[in-house]
Amino acid sequence: MKITKICCIGAGYVGGPTMAVIAKKNPNIEVTIVDINEERIAAWNDKDVSKLPIYEPGLAEIVEETRGKNLFFSTAIDEAIAAAEMIFISVNTPTKTYGKGKGMAADLKYVELCARNIAEVAKTDKIVVEKSTLPVRTAQAIKSILHNTGNGVNFSILSNPEFLAEGTAIQDLLNPDRVLIGGESEDAIESLANIYGSWVPQDRILRTNVWSSELSKLTANAFLAQRISSINAISELCEHTEANVNEVAKAIGMDSRIGPKFLNASIGFGGSCFQKDILNLVYIARSYGLNAVADYWEQVILLNDHQKRRFSDNLISTLYNTVSGKKIAMLGWAFKKDTNDTRESAAIYVADHLLNEQANIAVYDPKVTSKKVQADLNYLNTRTAEENNTLVKSYNDPYETSKDAHAIAIMTEWDEFKTYDWQKIYDNMKKPAFIFDGRNILDKTEMESIGFEYSSIGK
Ligand code: NAD
Ligand code: UGA
Repeated sequence: MKITKICCIGAGYVGGPTMAVIAKKNPNIEVTIVDINEERIAAWNDKDVSKLPIYEPGLAEIVEETRGKNLFFSTAIDEAIAAAEMIFISVNTPTKTYGKGKGMAADLKYVELCARNIAEVAKTDKIVVEKSTLPVRTAQAIKSILHNTGNGVNFSILSNPEFLAEGTAIQDLLNPDRVLIGGESEDAIESLANIYGSWVPQDRILRTNVWSSELSKLTANAFLAQRISSINAISELCEHTEANVNEVAKAIGMDSRIGPKFLNASIGFGGSCFQKDILNLVYIARSYGLNAVADYWEQVILLNDHQKRRFSDNLISTLYNTVSGKKIAMLGWAFKKDTNDTRESAAIYVADHLLNEQANIAVYDPKVTSKKVQADLNYLNTRTAEENNTLVKSYNDPYETSKDAHAIAIMTEWDEFKTYDWQKIYDNMKKPAFIFDGRNILDKTEMESIGFEYSSIGK
Protein backbone atom coordinates (compact mmCIF):
# COMPACT_ATOMS: atom_id res chain seq x y z
CA MET A 1 0.00 0.00 0.00
CA LYS A 2 1.36 3.45 -0.86
CA ILE A 3 1.34 5.56 2.27
CA THR A 4 0.53 9.26 1.89
CA LYS A 5 -0.95 9.96 5.32
CA ILE A 6 0.09 8.70 8.72
CA CYS A 7 -1.76 9.14 12.01
CA CYS A 8 0.00 8.56 15.31
CA ILE A 9 -2.14 8.18 18.42
CA GLY A 10 -0.17 9.40 21.46
CA ALA A 11 1.97 12.57 21.42
CA GLY A 12 4.38 11.46 24.14
CA TYR A 13 8.11 10.74 24.48
CA VAL A 14 7.89 8.15 21.72
CA GLY A 15 5.14 9.44 19.43
CA GLY A 16 6.46 13.02 19.28
CA PRO A 17 10.14 12.45 18.42
CA THR A 18 9.52 9.36 16.25
CA MET A 19 6.92 11.03 14.07
CA ALA A 20 8.98 14.22 13.84
CA VAL A 21 11.85 12.20 12.37
CA ILE A 22 9.55 10.21 10.05
CA ALA A 23 8.08 13.52 8.81
CA LYS A 24 11.51 15.06 8.29
CA LYS A 25 12.76 12.10 6.29
CA ASN A 26 9.53 11.64 4.29
CA PRO A 27 8.48 15.12 3.14
CA ASN A 28 5.80 13.61 0.88
CA ILE A 29 3.98 11.92 3.73
CA GLU A 30 1.61 13.94 5.89
CA VAL A 31 2.03 12.97 9.53
CA THR A 32 -0.59 13.89 12.13
CA ILE A 33 0.00 13.19 15.81
CA VAL A 34 -3.14 13.13 17.91
CA ASP A 35 -3.72 12.97 21.64
CA ILE A 36 -6.58 13.24 24.10
CA ASN A 37 -4.45 15.55 26.25
CA GLU A 38 -5.33 19.06 25.00
CA GLU A 39 -2.67 20.77 27.06
CA ARG A 40 0.04 18.53 25.57
CA ILE A 41 -1.12 19.17 22.01
CA ALA A 42 -1.25 22.93 22.68
CA ALA A 43 2.35 22.76 23.95
CA TRP A 44 3.44 20.85 20.82
CA ASN A 45 1.84 23.65 18.78
CA ASP A 46 3.46 26.45 20.80
CA LYS A 47 5.21 28.96 18.52
CA ASP A 48 8.07 29.05 20.99
CA VAL A 49 9.70 25.64 20.50
CA SER A 50 11.48 25.89 23.84
CA LYS A 51 8.02 25.25 25.31
CA LEU A 52 7.48 21.84 23.67
CA PRO A 53 6.19 19.35 26.25
CA ILE A 54 9.22 17.12 25.82
CA TYR A 55 12.85 18.10 26.10
CA GLU A 56 15.21 16.15 23.84
CA PRO A 57 18.39 17.54 22.29
CA GLY A 58 17.73 18.24 18.58
CA LEU A 59 13.95 17.77 18.77
CA ALA A 60 12.93 21.45 18.71
CA GLU A 61 14.90 22.05 15.50
CA ILE A 62 13.17 19.18 13.67
CA VAL A 63 9.72 20.25 14.89
CA GLU A 64 10.41 23.81 13.76
CA GLU A 65 11.45 22.54 10.33
CA THR A 66 8.48 20.21 9.72
CA ARG A 67 5.56 21.53 11.80
CA GLY A 68 2.82 23.03 9.65
CA LYS A 69 4.44 21.55 6.50
CA ASN A 70 3.96 17.80 6.83
CA LEU A 71 3.85 17.40 10.61
CA PHE A 72 0.70 18.30 12.53
CA PHE A 73 -0.40 18.03 16.17
CA SER A 74 -4.10 17.79 16.83
CA THR A 75 -6.86 16.64 19.16
CA ALA A 76 -9.13 15.73 16.24
CA ILE A 77 -8.47 12.02 16.65
CA ASP A 78 -11.32 10.63 14.52
CA GLU A 79 -10.53 12.82 11.51
CA ALA A 80 -6.86 11.87 11.59
CA ILE A 81 -7.67 8.14 11.86
CA ALA A 82 -10.18 8.32 9.02
CA ALA A 83 -7.76 10.08 6.68
CA ALA A 84 -4.67 7.93 7.29
CA GLU A 85 -3.64 4.71 5.54
CA MET A 86 -1.28 3.85 8.40
CA ILE A 87 -1.99 4.38 12.12
CA PHE A 88 0.63 4.09 14.84
CA ILE A 89 -0.53 3.30 18.37
CA SER A 90 1.97 5.05 20.61
CA VAL A 91 0.02 5.44 23.83
CA ASN A 92 1.27 4.69 27.32
CA THR A 93 1.18 1.14 28.70
CA PRO A 94 1.92 1.63 32.40
CA THR A 95 1.99 -1.04 35.08
CA LYS A 96 -1.54 -1.85 36.27
CA THR A 97 -2.49 -0.16 39.53
CA TYR A 98 -5.69 -2.12 40.12
CA GLY A 99 -7.31 -5.55 39.75
CA LYS A 100 -5.72 -8.72 38.40
CA GLY A 101 -2.00 -8.29 37.76
CA LYS A 102 -1.89 -5.11 39.87
CA GLY A 103 1.73 -3.91 40.22
CA MET A 104 2.98 -6.34 37.55
CA ALA A 105 1.00 -6.56 34.31
CA ALA A 106 0.89 -3.84 31.67
CA ASP A 107 -2.32 -1.84 31.67
CA LEU A 108 -3.63 -2.17 28.14
CA LYS A 109 -6.78 -0.06 28.54
CA TYR A 110 -5.36 2.84 26.49
CA VAL A 111 -4.28 0.50 23.71
CA GLU A 112 -7.68 -1.16 23.67
CA LEU A 113 -9.41 2.23 23.52
CA CYS A 114 -7.28 3.11 20.49
CA ALA A 115 -8.19 -0.15 18.76
CA ARG A 116 -11.88 0.47 19.40
CA ASN A 117 -11.57 4.04 18.20
CA ILE A 118 -9.88 2.92 14.97
CA ALA A 119 -12.48 0.19 14.38
CA GLU A 120 -15.32 2.66 14.82
CA VAL A 121 -13.96 5.36 12.56
CA ALA A 122 -12.20 3.46 9.76
CA LYS A 123 -14.06 3.39 6.44
CA THR A 124 -11.07 2.31 4.33
CA ASP A 125 -8.35 -0.36 4.76
CA LYS A 126 -5.72 0.48 7.37
CA ILE A 127 -2.34 -0.71 8.51
CA VAL A 128 -2.27 -0.54 12.31
CA VAL A 129 1.20 -0.37 13.83
CA GLU A 130 1.90 -1.24 17.47
CA LYS A 131 4.56 1.26 18.49
CA SER A 132 3.86 1.04 22.22
CA THR A 133 5.69 -1.66 24.16
CA LEU A 134 3.22 -4.50 24.57
CA PRO A 135 3.09 -7.97 26.10
CA VAL A 136 3.66 -10.76 23.62
CA ARG A 137 0.34 -11.83 21.99
CA THR A 138 -1.28 -8.36 22.23
CA ALA A 139 -1.58 -8.18 18.44
CA GLN A 140 -4.08 -11.05 18.75
CA ALA A 141 -6.31 -8.92 21.00
CA ILE A 142 -6.05 -5.87 18.75
CA LYS A 143 -6.85 -7.99 15.72
CA SER A 144 -9.90 -9.44 17.41
CA ILE A 145 -11.24 -6.01 18.41
CA LEU A 146 -10.63 -4.54 14.95
CA HIS A 147 -12.25 -7.43 13.11
CA ASN A 148 -15.22 -7.85 15.44
CA THR A 149 -16.16 -4.21 15.87
CA GLY A 150 -15.01 -2.70 12.57
CA ASN A 151 -16.99 -1.67 9.51
CA GLY A 152 -15.86 -4.63 7.43
CA VAL A 153 -12.71 -2.93 6.16
CA ASN A 154 -9.36 -4.72 6.14
CA PHE A 155 -6.83 -4.23 8.93
CA SER A 156 -3.21 -5.39 8.84
CA ILE A 157 -1.44 -5.36 12.18
CA LEU A 158 2.28 -4.76 12.53
CA SER A 159 4.52 -4.70 15.57
CA ASN A 160 7.20 -2.01 15.29
CA PRO A 161 8.63 -1.50 18.78
CA GLU A 162 10.70 1.57 19.48
CA PHE A 163 14.24 1.25 20.86
CA LEU A 164 15.08 4.93 21.38
CA ALA A 165 16.41 6.02 24.76
CA GLU A 166 15.35 9.36 26.21
CA GLY A 167 18.01 12.04 26.15
CA THR A 168 19.40 10.60 22.90
CA ALA A 169 16.06 10.03 21.14
CA ILE A 170 16.83 12.01 18.00
CA GLN A 171 20.27 10.46 17.49
CA ASP A 172 18.81 7.00 18.15
CA LEU A 173 16.04 7.61 15.62
CA LEU A 174 18.32 9.07 12.95
CA ASN A 175 20.84 6.28 13.30
CA PRO A 176 19.15 3.20 14.79
CA ASP A 177 21.06 -0.04 15.42
CA ARG A 178 18.04 -1.74 13.89
CA VAL A 179 14.38 -1.19 13.08
CA LEU A 180 12.18 -4.17 13.90
CA ILE A 181 9.00 -4.91 11.98
CA GLY A 182 6.89 -7.94 12.85
CA GLY A 183 3.83 -8.88 10.87
CA GLU A 184 1.87 -11.34 8.77
CA SER A 185 1.20 -9.36 5.62
CA GLU A 186 4.26 -8.89 3.46
CA ASP A 187 2.65 -5.95 1.72
CA ALA A 188 2.04 -4.16 5.03
CA ILE A 189 5.58 -4.92 6.25
CA GLU A 190 7.07 -3.47 3.06
CA SER A 191 4.91 -0.33 3.30
CA LEU A 192 6.43 0.41 6.68
CA ALA A 193 9.94 -0.72 5.65
CA ASN A 194 9.76 1.82 2.77
CA ILE A 195 9.08 4.66 5.18
CA TYR A 196 12.13 3.78 7.30
CA GLY A 197 14.04 3.01 4.11
CA SER A 198 14.21 6.71 3.30
CA TRP A 199 17.02 6.99 5.86
CA VAL A 200 17.74 3.57 7.42
CA PRO A 201 19.88 1.10 5.41
CA GLN A 202 17.84 -1.97 4.38
CA ASP A 203 20.14 -4.40 6.21
CA ARG A 204 19.21 -2.72 9.49
CA ILE A 205 15.49 -3.25 8.91
CA LEU A 206 14.68 -6.57 10.48
CA ARG A 207 11.50 -8.42 9.49
CA THR A 208 10.10 -11.08 11.85
CA ASN A 209 6.83 -12.64 12.82
CA VAL A 210 4.65 -10.46 15.02
CA TRP A 211 5.23 -12.47 18.22
CA SER A 212 9.03 -12.37 17.95
CA SER A 213 8.84 -8.63 17.47
CA GLU A 214 6.62 -8.08 20.52
CA LEU A 215 8.77 -10.34 22.70
CA SER A 216 12.06 -8.85 21.43
CA LYS A 217 11.15 -5.45 22.81
CA LEU A 218 10.54 -6.73 26.35
CA THR A 219 13.66 -8.89 26.07
CA ALA A 220 15.86 -6.00 24.92
CA ASN A 221 14.84 -3.90 27.91
CA ALA A 222 15.24 -6.83 30.30
CA PHE A 223 18.81 -7.49 29.04
CA LEU A 224 19.75 -3.79 29.28
CA ALA A 225 18.37 -3.42 32.79
CA GLN A 226 20.05 -6.67 33.81
CA ARG A 227 23.45 -5.18 32.94
CA ILE A 228 22.81 -2.24 35.25
CA SER A 229 21.67 -4.49 38.09
CA SER A 230 24.70 -6.71 37.50
CA ILE A 231 27.18 -3.85 37.77
CA ASN A 232 25.25 -2.34 40.69
CA ALA A 233 25.46 -5.66 42.55
CA ILE A 234 29.23 -5.58 42.03
CA SER A 235 29.34 -1.92 43.14
CA GLU A 236 28.26 -2.94 46.63
CA LEU A 237 30.93 -5.63 46.77
CA CYS A 238 33.50 -3.02 45.64
CA GLU A 239 32.59 -0.80 48.57
CA HIS A 240 33.50 -3.62 50.95
CA THR A 241 36.73 -4.66 49.26
CA GLU A 242 38.41 -1.43 48.09
CA ALA A 243 37.92 -2.49 44.50
CA ASN A 244 36.78 0.42 42.30
CA VAL A 245 33.66 -0.26 40.27
CA ASN A 246 34.77 2.02 37.42
CA GLU A 247 37.98 0.04 37.08
CA VAL A 248 36.10 -3.25 37.22
CA ALA A 249 33.59 -2.01 34.60
CA LYS A 250 36.43 -0.95 32.31
CA ALA A 251 38.26 -4.23 32.76
CA ILE A 252 35.26 -6.42 31.99
CA GLY A 253 33.90 -4.09 29.29
CA MET A 254 37.07 -4.50 27.24
CA ASP A 255 36.10 -8.11 26.68
CA SER A 256 34.37 -7.72 23.33
CA ARG A 257 31.82 -10.38 24.31
CA ILE A 258 30.70 -8.11 27.15
CA GLY A 259 31.35 -4.67 25.62
CA PRO A 260 31.80 -1.31 27.38
CA LYS A 261 28.31 0.21 27.19
CA PHE A 262 25.65 0.27 29.91
CA LEU A 263 28.01 -0.56 32.75
CA ASN A 264 27.78 2.69 34.71
CA ALA A 265 27.08 1.91 38.34
CA SER A 266 24.40 4.25 39.67
CA ILE A 267 21.72 4.83 42.27
CA GLY A 268 19.66 2.44 40.17
CA PHE A 269 17.86 2.64 36.88
CA GLY A 270 14.74 4.76 36.56
CA GLY A 271 12.52 5.71 33.65
CA SER A 272 9.13 4.70 32.45
CA CYS A 273 10.10 1.43 30.83
CA PHE A 274 12.71 -0.85 32.42
CA GLN A 275 10.80 -1.57 35.61
CA LYS A 276 7.41 -1.69 33.91
CA ASP A 277 8.61 -3.98 31.12
CA ILE A 278 10.48 -6.41 33.38
CA LEU A 279 7.52 -6.62 35.75
CA ASN A 280 5.42 -7.38 32.72
CA LEU A 281 7.85 -10.07 31.55
CA VAL A 282 7.77 -11.60 35.04
CA TYR A 283 3.97 -11.53 34.97
CA ILE A 284 3.81 -13.18 31.56
CA ALA A 285 6.27 -15.89 32.65
CA ARG A 286 4.22 -16.59 35.78
CA SER A 287 0.99 -16.70 33.81
CA TYR A 288 2.52 -19.57 31.78
CA GLY A 289 3.51 -21.26 35.08
CA LEU A 290 7.22 -20.56 34.43
CA ASN A 291 8.16 -19.62 37.98
CA ALA A 292 11.92 -20.14 37.62
CA VAL A 293 11.94 -17.78 34.64
CA ALA A 294 9.84 -15.23 36.51
CA ASP A 295 12.09 -15.37 39.62
CA TYR A 296 15.20 -14.94 37.50
CA TRP A 297 14.02 -11.67 35.92
CA GLU A 298 12.37 -10.39 39.08
CA GLN A 299 15.77 -10.31 40.74
CA VAL A 300 16.81 -7.49 38.36
CA ILE A 301 14.08 -5.32 39.90
CA LEU A 302 14.77 -6.40 43.49
CA LEU A 303 18.44 -5.49 43.14
CA ASN A 304 17.45 -2.12 41.68
CA ASP A 305 15.17 -1.39 44.65
CA HIS A 306 17.97 -2.44 46.98
CA GLN A 307 20.40 -0.05 45.28
CA LYS A 308 18.09 2.98 45.79
CA ARG A 309 17.44 2.04 49.42
CA ARG A 310 21.12 1.42 50.10
CA PHE A 311 21.96 4.92 48.84
CA SER A 312 19.56 6.69 51.20
CA ASP A 313 20.44 4.37 54.12
CA ASN A 314 24.10 5.22 53.64
CA LEU A 315 23.34 8.94 53.54
CA ILE A 316 21.36 8.76 56.78
CA SER A 317 23.91 6.67 58.66
CA THR A 318 26.79 8.90 57.52
CA LEU A 319 24.93 11.97 58.78
CA TYR A 320 25.20 10.54 62.31
CA ASN A 321 22.03 8.46 61.94
CA THR A 322 19.70 11.42 61.72
CA VAL A 323 18.62 13.76 58.96
CA SER A 324 15.69 15.15 60.94
CA GLY A 325 15.41 18.90 60.32
CA LYS A 326 18.58 18.86 58.17
CA LYS A 327 18.63 20.40 54.70
CA ILE A 328 19.64 17.88 52.04
CA ALA A 329 20.30 19.31 48.57
CA MET A 330 19.38 17.07 45.67
CA LEU A 331 21.03 17.93 42.37
CA GLY A 332 19.00 16.35 39.59
CA TRP A 333 15.48 14.99 39.63
CA ALA A 334 15.11 13.59 36.07
CA PHE A 335 15.76 9.84 35.68
CA LYS A 336 18.77 10.60 33.47
CA LYS A 337 20.41 13.62 31.87
CA ASP A 338 19.11 15.48 28.80
CA THR A 339 15.45 14.76 29.47
CA ASN A 340 12.69 16.40 31.50
CA ASP A 341 11.13 12.99 32.19
CA THR A 342 10.99 11.99 35.86
CA ARG A 343 8.99 8.79 35.68
CA GLU A 344 10.33 6.21 38.16
CA SER A 345 13.35 8.42 38.79
CA ALA A 346 15.50 7.16 41.67
CA ALA A 347 15.39 10.72 43.07
CA ILE A 348 11.70 10.31 43.95
CA TYR A 349 12.32 7.22 46.07
CA VAL A 350 15.45 8.57 47.73
CA ALA A 351 13.57 11.79 48.59
CA ASP A 352 10.64 9.82 49.96
CA HIS A 353 12.92 7.78 52.19
CA LEU A 354 14.68 10.91 53.49
CA LEU A 355 11.32 12.61 54.09
CA ASN A 356 10.27 9.66 56.23
CA GLU A 357 13.26 10.61 58.37
CA GLN A 358 11.99 14.22 58.52
CA ALA A 359 14.66 15.75 56.27
CA ASN A 360 14.14 19.07 54.50
CA ILE A 361 14.84 18.64 50.82
CA ALA A 362 16.06 21.24 48.34
CA VAL A 363 15.91 20.27 44.67
CA TYR A 364 17.58 21.67 41.60
CA ASP A 365 17.18 20.17 38.13
CA PRO A 366 17.90 22.16 34.97
CA LYS A 367 14.76 20.88 33.17
CA VAL A 368 12.29 19.78 35.84
CA THR A 369 9.76 22.20 37.30
CA SER A 370 8.83 22.53 40.95
CA LYS A 371 5.28 21.53 40.00
CA LYS A 372 6.55 18.22 38.60
CA VAL A 373 8.65 17.47 41.71
CA GLN A 374 5.60 18.00 43.90
CA ALA A 375 3.37 15.93 41.63
CA ASP A 376 5.86 13.03 41.69
CA LEU A 377 5.92 13.02 45.49
CA ASN A 378 2.16 13.44 45.80
CA TYR A 379 1.68 10.46 43.48
CA LEU A 380 3.41 8.22 46.02
CA ASN A 381 0.67 9.04 48.52
CA THR A 382 3.08 8.77 51.46
CA ARG A 383 2.17 12.17 52.88
CA THR A 384 -0.18 15.05 52.08
CA ALA A 385 0.48 17.56 49.31
CA GLU A 386 0.75 20.22 51.99
CA GLU A 387 3.49 18.31 53.80
CA ASN A 388 5.41 17.75 50.58
CA ASN A 389 5.10 21.42 49.79
CA THR A 390 6.50 22.40 53.17
CA LEU A 391 9.33 19.88 53.27
CA VAL A 392 10.50 20.00 49.64
CA LYS A 393 11.54 23.22 47.91
CA SER A 394 12.78 23.64 44.34
CA TYR A 395 15.37 26.24 43.38
CA ASN A 396 16.56 27.75 40.13
CA ASP A 397 20.26 27.50 40.83
CA PRO A 398 22.59 25.06 42.56
CA TYR A 399 24.18 27.62 44.88
CA GLU A 400 20.88 28.56 46.55
CA THR A 401 19.93 24.89 46.64
CA SER A 402 23.01 23.91 48.61
CA LYS A 403 23.23 26.95 50.89
CA ASP A 404 23.26 25.77 54.54
CA ALA A 405 22.77 22.17 53.47
CA HIS A 406 24.37 19.35 55.42
CA ALA A 407 24.73 17.16 52.36
CA ILE A 408 24.41 17.13 48.59
CA ALA A 409 23.04 14.09 46.80
CA ILE A 410 23.78 13.87 43.07
CA MET A 411 20.82 12.11 41.50
CA THR A 412 21.20 12.81 37.77
CA GLU A 413 24.37 12.96 35.67
CA TRP A 414 23.70 16.42 34.11
CA ASP A 415 26.94 17.67 32.50
CA GLU A 416 26.59 21.14 34.04
CA PHE A 417 27.11 19.69 37.54
CA LYS A 418 30.78 19.13 36.68
CA THR A 419 31.27 22.82 35.85
CA TYR A 420 30.13 24.36 39.15
CA ASP A 421 32.28 26.42 41.49
CA TRP A 422 32.42 23.67 44.11
CA GLN A 423 34.56 25.76 46.46
CA LYS A 424 31.77 28.34 46.59
CA ILE A 425 29.22 25.60 47.25
CA TYR A 426 31.40 24.15 50.02
CA ASP A 427 31.86 27.55 51.70
CA ASN A 428 28.11 28.02 52.06
CA MET A 429 27.30 24.58 53.47
CA LYS A 430 27.14 23.30 57.05
CA LYS A 431 30.31 21.50 58.12
CA PRO A 432 31.27 18.78 57.72
CA ALA A 433 29.90 19.08 54.17
CA PHE A 434 29.02 15.76 52.54
CA ILE A 435 28.58 14.81 48.90
CA PHE A 436 26.88 11.55 47.98
CA ASP A 437 27.60 11.14 44.29
CA GLY A 438 24.94 8.74 43.01
CA ARG A 439 26.29 9.04 39.48
CA ASN A 440 30.06 8.93 39.98
CA ILE A 441 30.49 12.16 38.02
CA LEU A 442 32.68 14.26 40.34
CA ASP A 443 36.38 13.83 41.00
CA LYS A 444 36.98 12.39 44.47
CA THR A 445 40.47 13.89 44.90
CA GLU A 446 39.31 17.36 43.86
CA MET A 447 36.27 17.27 46.13
CA GLU A 448 38.33 16.06 49.09
CA SER A 449 40.94 18.75 48.51
CA ILE A 450 38.17 21.37 48.81
CA GLY A 451 37.16 19.81 52.12
CA PHE A 452 34.11 17.73 51.22
CA GLU A 453 33.43 14.35 52.75
CA TYR A 454 32.90 12.61 49.41
CA SER A 455 31.43 9.20 48.71
CA SER A 456 30.18 7.62 45.53
CA ILE A 457 28.76 4.36 44.26
CA GLY A 458 31.10 1.40 44.21
CA LYS A 459 34.30 3.12 45.25
P1 NAD B 1 3.71 9.05 27.19
O1 NAD B 1 2.92 8.88 28.42
O2 NAD B 1 4.79 10.09 27.13
O3 NAD B 1 2.73 9.34 25.96
C1 NAD B 1 1.56 8.63 25.71
C2 NAD B 1 0.50 9.61 25.22
O4 NAD B 1 -0.64 8.87 24.78
C3 NAD B 1 -0.01 10.58 26.28
O5 NAD B 1 0.21 11.92 25.85
C4 NAD B 1 -1.51 10.25 26.41
O6 NAD B 1 -2.32 11.39 26.64
C5 NAD B 1 -1.81 9.64 25.07
N1 NAD B 1 -3.00 8.78 25.05
C6 NAD B 1 -3.34 7.79 25.93
N2 NAD B 1 -4.50 7.21 25.55
C7 NAD B 1 -4.91 7.82 24.42
C8 NAD B 1 -6.02 7.66 23.55
N3 NAD B 1 -6.93 6.69 23.76
N4 NAD B 1 -6.13 8.48 22.48
C9 NAD B 1 -5.19 9.43 22.25
N5 NAD B 1 -4.11 9.62 23.01
C10 NAD B 1 -3.96 8.83 24.10
O7 NAD B 1 4.34 7.61 26.87
P2 NAD B 1 5.69 7.28 26.07
O8 NAD B 1 6.86 7.43 26.96
O9 NAD B 1 5.66 8.00 24.76
O10 NAD B 1 5.51 5.73 25.82
C11 NAD B 1 4.55 5.23 24.90
C12 NAD B 1 4.83 3.76 24.66
O11 NAD B 1 6.12 3.60 24.07
C13 NAD B 1 4.84 2.90 25.93
O12 NAD B 1 4.31 1.65 25.63
C14 NAD B 1 6.33 2.76 26.23
O13 NAD B 1 6.61 1.58 26.93
C15 NAD B 1 6.93 2.71 24.85
N6 NAD B 1 8.32 3.17 24.77
C16 NAD B 1 8.73 4.27 25.46
C17 NAD B 1 10.04 4.73 25.33
C18 NAD B 1 10.53 5.92 26.10
O14 NAD B 1 11.74 6.14 26.10
N7 NAD B 1 9.68 6.69 26.73
C19 NAD B 1 10.91 4.07 24.47
C20 NAD B 1 10.46 2.96 23.76
C21 NAD B 1 9.16 2.52 23.91
C1 UGA C 1 15.55 2.44 27.74
C2 UGA C 1 16.34 1.70 26.65
O1 UGA C 1 17.72 2.09 26.71
C3 UGA C 1 15.77 1.99 25.28
O2 UGA C 1 16.45 1.21 24.30
C4 UGA C 1 14.27 1.64 25.28
O3 UGA C 1 13.70 1.95 24.04
C5 UGA C 1 13.59 2.43 26.38
O4 UGA C 1 14.19 2.11 27.64
C6 UGA C 1 12.13 2.12 26.50
O5 UGA C 1 11.68 1.07 26.13
O6 UGA C 1 11.50 3.01 27.03
P1 UGA C 1 15.48 4.94 28.65
O7 UGA C 1 14.77 4.33 29.79
O8 UGA C 1 14.87 6.10 27.97
O9 UGA C 1 15.72 3.84 27.51
O10 UGA C 1 16.96 5.38 29.08
P2 UGA C 1 18.31 4.55 29.39
O11 UGA C 1 19.44 5.26 28.79
O12 UGA C 1 18.18 3.12 29.07
O13 UGA C 1 18.42 4.70 30.97
C7 UGA C 1 17.54 4.04 31.85
C8 UGA C 1 18.03 4.19 33.29
O14 UGA C 1 19.21 3.41 33.50
C9 UGA C 1 18.41 5.62 33.66
O15 UGA C 1 17.99 5.91 34.96
C10 UGA C 1 19.91 5.61 33.56
O16 UGA C 1 20.53 6.58 34.35
C11 UGA C 1 20.23 4.21 34.06
N1 UGA C 1 21.54 3.70 33.59
C12 UGA C 1 21.77 3.54 32.26
C13 UGA C 1 22.50 3.35 34.53
O17 UGA C 1 22.28 3.48 35.75
N2 UGA C 1 23.70 2.86 34.08
C14 UGA C 1 23.98 2.70 32.77
O18 UGA C 1 25.09 2.25 32.43
C15 UGA C 1 22.98 3.05 31.83
